[in-house]
Amino acid sequence: MHHDIASRAAELAVSVAAAPRRVLDVGCGTGYLLRLLAARYPQAAELAGIDAAPSMIETARRAADDPRLRFMVGTAERLPYPDDAFDLVVSTTSFDHWADQIAGLRECARVLAPGGHLVLADQFSPLLVPTLLAGRRGKARTRRRVSQLLGAAGFEGLAWHNLYELIIKAVTATV
Ligand SMILES: C[S@@+](CC[C@H](N)C(=O)[O-])C[C@H]1O[C@@H](n2cnc3c(N)ncnc32)[C@H](O)[C@@H]1O
Repeated sequence: MHHDIASRAAELAVSVAAAPRRVLDVGCGTGYLLRLLAARYPQAAELAGIDAAPSMIETARRAADDPRLRFMVGTAERLPYPDDAFDLVVSTTSFDHWADQIAGLRECARVLAPGGHLVLADQFSPLLVPTLLAGRRGKARTRRRVSQLLGAAGFEGLAWHNLYELIIKAVTATV
């Protein structure tokens, strides 16, 4: 399932950002999406992945098949990159895990150069509203809430896309 979501997210990324030079995947896991993007973006100079779990980064480094791929342990809420460092930021099925989602989105906006693109994919659906009353209290799991947070973080030009099954959606936006 994660590979299908990543493949569709890669297609979506290519449709909004045809030739980014610097790409970041936040919550990159094993780096599968970045390896797909490396193949789709031959002109890219750097494809960076960051993940909170050291074991994921170890696996991603071992699987890296392109010298432009770089992986680092870190969190969305505190990205270890300077302002304007990337032209495209992607993130698939990680956002729901971020401890502070607005802080993470602000960081994504900060590291994107003006005109840069965000592709954010996760479980976003009214079907998930009951979960907000229990274990996922406070999480942004509906389009409305995510759109509010993206606006507050400085993103504009939001467009929503059905990515996988009923509840996996992606939102694209620019800074
Ligand atoms: C379900 S996995 C998805 C991994 C990958 N993006 C994919 O689509 O296969 C969620 C990932 O988010 C990472 N993660 C959780 N909280 C994070 C945070 N605050 N910042 C960065 N990564 C985080 C986890 O370590 C995990 O690798």
